[in-house]
Amino acid sequence: MKIHLLLDKKGPIISKYIYGQFAEHLGRCIYEGIWVGEDSPIPNEKGIRLDVLEALKAINVPVLRWPGGCFADEYHWKDGIGPKENRKKMINTHWGGVVENNHFGTHEFMLLCDLIGCEAYINGNVGSGTVQEMSEWVEYLTLNGESPMANLRKENGREKPWDVKFFGVGNESWGCGGNMRPEFYADLYRQYQTYVRQYGDQKIYKIACGASVDDYQWTEVLMKNAARFMDGLSLHHYSIPTRNWQDKGNAIAFPEEEWFSLIEHAQYMDELIEKHSTIMDKYDPTKRVGLIVDEWGAWYNVEPGTNPGFLYQQNTIRDAVLAAITLNIFHKHADRVYMANIAQMVNVLQSMLLTEGDQMIKTPTYHVFDLYQNHQDAELVDSYGDAIERVSYTASRKNGCLSISLCNYDLSETKEITFTGRLGNFSVIDAQYISADVMDAHNTFEEPNNVEKKNFSNYEINQDGLTITLPPMSVLTVVLKES
Ligand code: AHR
Repeated sequence: MKIHLLLDKKGPIISKYIYGQFAEHLGRCIYEGIWVGEDSPIPNEKGIRLDVLEALKAINVPVLRWPGGCFADEYHWKDGIGPKENRKKMINTHWGGVVENNHFGTHEFMLLCDLIGCEAYINGNVGSGTVQEMSEWVEYLTLNGESPMANLRKENGREKPWDVKFFGVGNESWGCGGNMRPEFYADLYRQYQTYVRQYGDQKIYKIACGASVDDYQWTEVLMKNAARFMDGLSLHHYSIPTRNWQDKGNAIAFPEEEWFSLIEHAQYMDELIEKHSTIMDKYDPTKRVGLIVDEWGAWYNVEPGTNPGFLYQQNTIRDAVLAAITLNIFHKHADRVYMANIAQMVNVLQSMLLTEGDQMIKTPTYHVFDLYQNHQDAELVDSYGDAIERVSYTASRKNGCLSISLCNYDLSETKEITFTGRLGNFSVIDAQYISADVMDAHNTFEEPNNVEKKNFSNYEINQDGLTITLPPMSVLTVVLKES
């Protein structure tokens, strides 16, 4: 099977923000997964666990969305500032009915972003919050000088304002964020965003709540009525093997048909982006407004014995394949998709990392984000060639390097693929992959390295091109350099 790379053709830049993460006050994502508190025996920096921090730094997380999700529209930011002992306790009604002590608030989140070295994406509360509350949050975060909120920030120990690059105005406003109709939300969006003021030098990129999956009417109404007030419009799509929210299918020990049904549901992202973009094109032909897929990933039944409201699930080679296929789709639509945030970063849904007490493991999905790092802010390389059954691929170039990532989602067949197109002067400088022998291969606290990144040597490069022999159930990145 042959693929011809069009190295002489200019392509769009794959925004690094496509590799974004999402951390919600949900289950053990924030508490335990990220925040353990300064007094914890788990090694931490000002309360943030160090093992998680190191792992996240290693994959170059570009942006982090917080505090929700559905939690965002129940969150009142003033409850999460000031001395911790005075912070209000609340019930996290949406997620497990547990007590939220607000120990992780604005200062802790901004510290987390600083330590990771990523941009902040804060999601404001429209569902149960006021315009004033949202406006004051922006003032508290970003205003330099004298003002009631800037002074309050200083009293709480932070002299300088922070840079906040992304701000979301409501989350799932068609559902948990207020059950609104698109016309009503479009007007509310126009109103709320007016008071997301620009105080600092950093331009705040404003994101309007977008559609659930294939609700094209939502996109139509939002673009028609509010496009000129937004920089980005969101989209949420979760992949569920059974397509049944009551019994989604299991994360491990699943039947073979659920390998394929999950992948098919993930591939649906391509059609969704295509169709939402077509509507966006009508009102925004220059593609100024970015499509922000700020929730995506696999959603299964929770791990047996865990709190159903905590959404804790295992993560297998199937999830790795899903991640690779989805990232390849985002690359393909690099001209419109500006950000994406996989749900979620730690211990919730399709996470990068799982923790248990002082232990932490990397999931197969984590390794895909690691393998794909070179594509961040790289130029997409177009190609044509044979349609290869059960193989998904992408290619990009940056700093004189060409990176090709491939995923073979066949359960048993090895695939041989040859890339051609002016590759004569290239040599391979790095090739790494993950693969598995069983379709639910995963890492556990007892066996943390069942699925891990390894060096790959099953390729040949010569005047005819680069030929890769790709094992079943694998994700690979090959990096080449021109001499
Ligand atoms: O990621 C879990 C939840 O899924 C989010 O809180 C919500 O926005 C979506 O429905």
